[in-house]
Amino acid sequence: MAQQTTAPTEEELAAAGLGLAIDGEVARITLSRPRRRNAMTGRMWTELARIGHTLPDRVRIVVVTGEGPTFSSGIDLDMFRSGDVDGEPTPLTLLARDPGDTAALERTIAAYQEGFLWLRRADIVSVAAVRGHAIGAGFQLALSCDIRVLSDTARLCMKEPALGLVPDLTGTKPLVELVGVNRAVELCLTARTVDAAEAERLRLAERVVADAELESAVDDLVAQLLAVPADAARATKELLLQAEHNDLETQAGAERTAQLARLAAMVGTSR
Ligand code: CAA
Repeated sequence: MAQQTTAPTEEELAAAGLGLAIDGEVARITLSRPRRRNAMTGRMWTELARIGHTLPDRVRIVVVTGEGPTFSSGIDLDMFRSGDVDGEPTPLTLLARDPGDTAALERTIAAYQEGFLWLRRADIVSVAAVRGHAIGAGFQLALSCDIRVLSDTARLCMKEPALGLVPDLTGTKPLVELVGVNRAVELCLTARTVDAAEAERLRLAERVVADAELESAVDDLVAQLLAVPADAARATKELLLQAEHNDLETQAGAERTAQLARLAAMVGTSR
């Protein structure tokens, strides 16, 4: 699917059930279909990808949240029917049209995954602010973010296997990295719901706060993140992202390289 290079208009975002507010270095994305508990559609995911691809360079913090008392009820259950949702054919429709053309379906899922992948980019820090349920695709969206701030009302559930599917919106890797493969198997294959206190114990939440304090806690976190110089933040996130794949020696080398660049920049600016 071709990458969209123009930023979505407010109308396009609204049609996809999304809100976007950019204020200087901070972008706030709101899942905004509260009557369906912010259920997510293919169009929502491809518009999320478009937001990521067209984000102004100055943005370095992205906050993702849901309108109302539920972060997201996951995939819109209409996506499991044949026909169109939001003017786009559902995956089942694509398969029914041409059962042999799995490549088209794979491209569609890859386009959906783009909506989640960009949140790991080194030039931004992504924060999920989760209130109420984050189910299936909603849980995977929260897992795509660097930092999860949970209200004490948060309820996380990887429901896909219970529906005969697998989690395919890039959530399995961060889940295993955070909780370990054994716990991930237990969570996914029981499809049970984890409350905020357990989420914190399992390292699925970086911060848990009283529901009434969710917005102020996120604002405080954003202020702390903005207080760190942007270039140093980016270079540090790049290092942290490669740490688990590198052996110690390689990582130490990467630290030296990154620090030389930082020191050179400091000397350059102090001249
Ligand atoms: N898709 C479409 N509509 C949904 C929805 C969903 N995922 N979740 C809720 N809604 C709708 C309900 O049908 C209901 O609509 P009406 O008012 O027209 O009846 C409305 O939202 C409110 O729902 P509830 O009354 O159930 O709200 P609640 O606050 O009591 O419960 C909830 C909220 C716990 C999220 C519950 O609605 C629920 O369990 N929803 C289904 C969750 C689900 O199974 N999601 C799929 C996850 S798997 C996934 O995401 C798959 C993937 O990636 C492949």
